[in-house]
Amino acid sequence: MINELIFPKPDDMHLHLREDELLKVVSKHSAAQFGRAIIMPNLQNPIINSELAHKYYDEVKNHTKVHDFEPLMTIYFNEKLTLEELKRIQISSKIIGIKLYPKGVTTNSNKGIDSFNSGYKIFEMMEKLDIPLLIHGEVNDPNIDIFDREKIFIEKNLINAHKEFPDLRIVLEHISTKESTEFVKETSNNIAATITPQHLLYNRNELFAGGLKPHAFCLPVLKREEHRVAVLGAAISGNPKFFLGTDSAPHKKSEKESSCGCAGIYSALNAMEIYAEIFDRNNAIEKLENFSSKFGADFYRLSQNKNKIKLVRSSNKVPNSIKIDNGEVIPLLAGQEINWNCSAV
Ligand code: NCD
Ligand code: ZN
Repeated sequence: MINELIFPKPDDMHLHLREDELLKVVSKHSAAQFGRAIIMPNLQNPIINSELAHKYYDEVKNHTKVHDFEPLMTIYFNEKLTLEELKRIQISSKIIGIKLYPKGVTTNSNKGIDSFNSGYKIFEMMEKLDIPLLIHGEVNDPNIDIFDREKIFIEKNLINAHKEFPDLRIVLEHISTKESTEFVKETSNNIAATITPQHLLYNRNELFAGGLKPHAFCLPVLKREEHRVAVLGAAISGNPKFFLGTDSAPHKKSEKESSCGCAGIYSALNAMEIYAEIFDRNNAIEKLENFSSKFGADFYRLSQNKNKIKLVRSSNKVPNSIKIDNGEVIPLLAGQEINWNCSAV
């Protein structure tokens, strides 16, 4: 039995750090475990250009000074992105890619694009400049069943876009379905996917286990067991196209426990311990290192982090709640015991 692992600091390839008070608290949690993280641009005022991304970078750095942590910024896909702006994005060492939200699919996506094909002119320029496109892969048609929105996004949009722009590197974020795992596996090496802890741990029953569970609500919404099993299979397969992205997305408790609760699960405080728990429970702990510290870096053409983390098998209780000014955030697995502890070496 493996009781201790030491490996290069992992990268969280999909992270929400928010702004103000939340940013101050949650950025430190990620910085304590991860060497780098890709920071999502869906703030209340989205990060729509390189100037805003550089300002946000400085804020994140300011809050994470004591750690060896590098935020990798993203731009919110928008139709105002000109060739000049794309060139600025390409040469910035602080910006890693552009994140596309179909309008209305998730938190702060009301400035997203309504028709996927309207992005083609910009995709073409991104392909030439070799700027990665990160996608929230769900259709925004309210008439489509919410459990089918990811699958239909692939059929209707992604297959065509990849045919049209085969050299564009695309990351399908937070995959939640069997269809996504198949699409990514079968397509070229320019297509990869991030995987969250919640899509590995739970199927959709979790949303209704003993009553309505707002803290299990995220987007893409949890799916049937066969999908969880497929996503888990992809994560522990050792296939380099699947890598770690927590999608840690904090919302205040009062905003989740509400008549119209926000989507998003907070996992950053114990992210590596939770992934270790999941891989270990599935007899795949030896696959954790590459999933966390290598495959994502390779896809984004980054070298691995120099510093290391240590994961030790020992009991660890996830806190019931995390205090912030004027409220609290409830973490994934709140109050539950897990069997791993993570520290910087
Ligand atoms: C994210 C958020 O709250 O910003 N929510 C979520 O449920 N995952 C946005 C997103 O990644 O969809
Ligand atoms: Zn997200």
